[in-house]
Amino acid sequence: MNGDGIGPEVTRQGLKVLKAVAPVAGITLETDEALIGGDAYDKAGSFLPDETLEKSRQSDAILFGAVGGPKWANLDHTIKPEGGLLRLRKELDLYANLRPARVFDALVDASTLKREVVEGTDMMVIRELTGGIYFGEPRGAIEVDGRKGARNTMIYMEYEIERVVRMGFEMALKRRNKLTSIDKSNVLEVSKLWRSIADRLAPEYPDVKLNHLYVDAAAMEIIRDPRQFDTIVTGNMFGDIISDEASMLTGSIGMLPSASIGGEVALYEPIHGSAPDIAGQDKANPMASILSVGMMFRYTFGMPAIDEWIQTAVNKVLMNNRTPEIQEKGKNLVGCEQMGDLILEALEASKPVAVAGRA
Ligand code: NAD
Ligand code: IPM
Ligand code: MN
Repeated sequence: MNGDGIGPEVTRQGLKVLKAVAPVAGITLETDEALIGGDAYDKAGSFLPDETLEKSRQSDAILFGAVGGPKWANLDHTIKPEGGLLRLRKELDLYANLRPARVFDALVDASTLKREVVEGTDMMVIRELTGGIYFGEPRGAIEVDGRKGARNTMIYMEYEIERVVRMGFEMALKRRNKLTSIDKSNVLEVSKLWRSIADRLAPEYPDVKLNHLYVDAAAMEIIRDPRQFDTIVTGNMFGDIISDEASMLTGSIGMLPSASIGGEVALYEPIHGSAPDIAGQDKANPMASILSVGMMFRYTFGMPAIDEWIQTAVNKVLMNNRTPEIQEKGKNLVGCEQMGDLILEALEASKPVAVAGRA
């Protein structure tokens, strides 16, 4: 699903890598395309056409671009492109959104933060994706004593918290055994419940060290000392904000992929948006889409070695080549399309022996 703005440009590069890597991994791919977002609204009158939902349900995995842009920004909330993505996540029950913020060696000097702060950063933000203030009712316009306003409601049911926090513990077990749960339990009842559930589950995972942070302090700690974080689990809106923040440790929001899982189908997408300011200019960084393909191999196809292979190729290409937003002195400036080609070349030059043997 291409979507809007830079969505089609970056997804084209992701798809290119997917199609090149699948045969090496021994996977027979069947691909199809579907409309989403403003593009779907313009062409088919709906931000999430029935056909797109139907095709999604019949897939194992979805590669998603981005949706939204100024053209549709003033539409009613019930018919905004962003609503199409939110409904797709909800319909497919994609309650956990994995957003890894890893600083590639090649990019330690590309961040706006100092090398000695960001070097070696490798955190996994798990964002709850189908609940919280994004979906709570009641919502919308209100009128109180003749005065107009608007409201949203933050709701989390126990089962919604438990399943995503559990995923946090399981992820920490596969990583460095540390889980940070981020909330606002000094103010919000919903967060108090969140924290109590994390504490209740902790004894089931004696090998994982659980700690809690308020979201404001967490925002500060992520910039002060990012290496202290291993796995983070948090609610929908906090995770949205914290992951964009964490992306800047890596040099660019164009570096952060994501996997949305929990249902039968999984959705893979960059964490960035449609970037209307650079759309159609071949300036977008396609790494987030390409790394999302890596996550597809890890989580849908159960092939972490392919993900590693793609990550290594990305790091290698970044040593000498940069899209404009991470350009540094002495590096070749390349466009979106050429960046995709360079990754393909790097992959070709470094086929993993064990995997290549299965082709
Ligand atoms: P954005 O992520 O689109 O852009 C923020 C900034 O980052 C811009 O300066 C942009 O040029 C830059 N940027 C983003 N991706 C980049 C890439 N791959 N390479 C280089 N630079 C990149 O966020 P925004 O401007 O706040 O939102 C624009 C639109 O996208 C809005 O309609 C918003 O709702 C939507 N959006 C969609 C998604 C999604 O589809 N998952 C995510 C975020 C925002
Ligand atoms: C993201 C985006 C979306 C979100 C918007 C476009 C609905 O910001 O994927 O991070 O807030 O989840
Ligand atoms: Mn976001």
